[in-house]
Amino acid sequence: MRSDEVRSQITEARSQNCGQDPAVQARSLTRTYRRGAEKIKALKGIDLDIKCGEFVGVVGHSGAGKTTLLNLIGLMDRPTEGKLGVLGTDVTRRAVRLDALRRKNIGFVFQEFYLMPTLTATENVLLPTMWGKARDMTGSGSAIVDRVPSRDRAKKLLDLVGLGHRMTHKPSELSGGEMQRVAVARALVNSPRLLLADEPTGNLDTATRDGVFSLLLALNRDSGLTVIVATHDLGLESRFTRVVRLEDGAIVK
Ligand SMILES: Nc1ncnc2c1ncn2[C@@H]1O[C@H](COP(=O)(O)OP(=O)(O)OP(=O)(O)O)[C@@H](O)[C@H]1O
Ligand SMILES: [Mg+2]
Repeated sequence: MRSDEVRSQITEARSQNCGQDPAVQARSLTRTYRRGAEKIKALKGIDLDIKCGEFVGVVGHSGAGKTTLLNLIGLMDRPTEGKLGVLGTDVTRRAVRLDALRRKNIGFVFQEFYLMPTLTATENVLLPTMWGKARDMTGSGSAIVDRVPSRDRAKKLLDLVGLGHRMTHKPSELSGGEMQRVAVARALVNSPRLLLADEPTGNLDTATRDGVFSLLLALNRDSGLTVIVATHDLGLESRFTRVVRLEDGAIVK
């Protein structure tokens, strides 16, 4: 499989998803954390619509609620109140299995990369597919098993992020920017319909930051993948197609 085929798979995943459904539809979305007697209102009833194919920056100062919002959209957490639709599914319904929906549809990139230090770049990219393999070995059968990507796909994804020549390198043998590119390739391995990145350039110098950011932009532009990036880097704001500004748990215009 060539890189352009990988790109077209991402485009296909997006078109399957993009019928009439918005990528994100939040109404009065609230997340309150409790620490003992203390209540912290991290999101205070936000309304937000993100269409498929958008490249959205979630910006705001430290503590504004960016990570909280991404964790809700990324189905890592449930809201305290309000409604949240992600890719056409009302994920506030208790019956919805967030982990299955997340694995199938959402790719995540984090500031800290979270690569496994003992694994090569290829193995790190394939890591999210291991769940399907484990189910296969138990003989329980799963649709996910049918689409367990091969090492060949890992190679093409590494090519796509400009790291085809680093397949057998371990994280300690890669630069920060290269590690983040591996993390982007890993986030794409299950052909997600939504890519979320929380401060993806926070640990990188300016030149490397621009390279990683351009990669996310290219994925959105060339494949139409919906990408949402949380950042407090003011230098990146002008490059999003839309900016959602959070202040103290609320969206400000
Ligand atoms: N698990 C938690 N328990 C209690 N409070 C939390 C928890 N996670 C976040 N908070 C609080 O919620 C608020 C929003 O935090 P959040 O991490 O969403 O901010 P952020 O905009 O991502 O900040 P940063 O730019 O520093 O990453 C902050 O006041 C934070 O202290
Ligand atoms: Mg954060």
